[in-house]
Amino acid sequence: MRKITVAVDGPSGSGKSSVSKETARRLGAAYLDTGAMYRAVTWHALDAGTDLSDAEAVAAAVKAADLFISTDPDVERITIHGTDVTEAIREPFVSEAVSAVATNLAARAELVARQRAIIAAHERIVAEGRDITTVVAPDADARILLTASEEARLRRRGLQLGGTQSDAELQAQVLVRDAKDSTVVDFHVAADGVATVDSSEMDFEQTVTAVLEAIKAQAD
Ligand code: DC
Repeated sequence: MRKITVAVDGPSGSGKSSVSKETARRLGAAYLDTGAMYRAVTWHALDAGTDLSDAEAVAAAVKAADLFISTDPDVERITIHGTDVTEAIREPFVSEAVSAVATNLAARAELVARQRAIIAAHERIVAEGRDITTVVAPDADARILLTASEEARLRRRGLQLGGTQSDAELQAQVLVRDAKDSTVVDFHVAADGVATVDSSEMDFEQTVTAVLEAIKAQAD
């Protein structure tokens, strides 16, 4: 099988994770959810009582983190210092705190280095996040920005969370967090050479097909 690295970026609610995971399955590739790494180190910092406003303490905690993440698209598992945090990192208290790590440049540098090492260790991999097409793997064989309208992103995140959230809660989870995170990485505009797939009017299957087509167009 030919070696291939695929980089996918996009905002919350664009369908990035589920679409990237399914794309990896169809390509017989590994899958890396870089957002889960930001979430896991945030969970650990909170658990250890690290002051998230102390940039040096946060960076030191990230550097020391013993982090394991599954790259099997069919096995979702992430551990930090031996604790399985696969479920815990999806809790709202982690979503609310994660920007403190995502905007810490030293913490980002550490996680970017680890992500590059994971990508390099795989012959075939789909890696997704916010800065994969631009910082982590700008030389990837295929680079895609998966976007969706604000309305579509809010609707999807609402469905994902079981429809129990108020509009204000959803906006805080999707738009406010993206606004904070985009102060350090721009994931709303495609960089040079990055293909845009707008999923606003597409269902899941159509989006996967469009992503696979964009990969084929770039990687062949
Ligand atoms: O995709 P997600 O919601 O699981 O991402 C969690 C957080 O990590 C989010 O605040 C954005 C940030 N992130 C990032 O800054 N860079 C990445 N490559 C991946 C995620």
